[in-house]
Amino acid sequence: MKVAVASDHAGFCQKAAIIQAAEGLGATVEDLGPVTDERVDYPDYAARVANAVSAGEVDLGILICGTGLGMAMTADKFPGVRATAVTRPDFAHLAREHNDANIICLSGRFVEPEKNAEIVKEFLTTKFAGGRHAVRVEKMMGNCVADPDALEKIADASRFSLITHPLVQHKMAILRDTNTGTKQFRELIRELALFEGYEATRDFPLEEIEVETPLEKTKAAQIAGKKVAIVPILRAGLGMVDGLLELLPSARVGHIGMFRDPKTKEPQPYYCKLPSDIENRTVLLVDPMLATGGSANAAIDYLREAGVKDVRLLVIDAAPEGVNAVLEHDPTVRVFATSLDRQLNDNAYILPGLGDAGDRIFGTL
Ligand code: RB5
Repeated sequence: MKVAVASDHAGFCQKAAIIQAAEGLGATVEDLGPVTDERVDYPDYAARVANAVSAGEVDLGILICGTGLGMAMTADKFPGVRATAVTRPDFAHLAREHNDANIICLSGRFVEPEKNAEIVKEFLTTKFAGGRHAVRVEKMMGNCVADPDALEKIADASRFSLITHPLVQHKMAILRDTNTGTKQFRELIRELALFEGYEATRDFPLEEIEVETPLEKTKAAQIAGKKVAIVPILRAGLGMVDGLLELLPSARVGHIGMFRDPKTKEPQPYYCKLPSDIENRTVLLVDPMLATGGSANAAIDYLREAGVKDVRLLVIDAAPEGVNAVLEHDPTVRVFATSLDRQLNDNAYILPGLGDAGDRIFGTL
């Protein structure tokens, strides 16, 4: 786990001990300053940690000022940050378990170092509970979840991302409509995949480079050599490839074809072709529908056997049953969806769903 830590002059006296406590729990800590107890403005240091959390460069952040209060007020202004001032270990526990807090702000003046160490322990070792709390956290973040009951059913919210952006929800509404024709359906799948790729690559590491604008030299950031492969599950997954290639033009594309064994009913790979260095790549495994999770799990197993460490499954429409089946099957895969629907019917179709995505993409209805 990566953790960013910073303080102001009033919290500086406890910073080293807090870093030690975090490292003692196995965290990799990035000290974002300051390096002395000289007077500084707490918002400047709160911004450093909040930026790192917001950009996904670290998993969690810890800030220390006199009270913790000003740091929390500042950090909470950054997108995706949930920061809170904590002075008791049980509050640190609940801030993670119920509120999915990703930054805690400690008091260097009013809380003893031993107590702060206990608070850090609770913060770093407690998991977000998900379920009904996931629904509340989405509401807290101002996100509109179409089906809160479905979200409540997800067993491990820490590895599931539902994309709730208004444009995504708008496009999903058109996609679901049975009167939407093949051409528009195909375009929407491509666009939704592009939005989803944007979220699924949010934590890609950056490196600083120098560029020359027409006016002067400046520092800029670029992706630090992340190698990606887009792997569609045939055939419907093909509809998502172009949208992702627009975002990641130098990504390689592999293919996994599955058929259902008539005897065992288990999905079996019938055609698989992956880039030769697949084990060094982050794989965006794509399939528009996640119903039972059967073919996704078989594809994930195939990728794991090929040595892939970082697998991210991107789907358009998911059922809670399928998301849970995938998260239970593989301990590290992350799942992204642009919609999470109510349930599966007896034929394993997603309800309310959007029909058979493959048939609607290719016009084979
Ligand atoms: C600095 O004196 C103090 O205002 C700061 O450390 C913090 O308590 C702000 O919230």
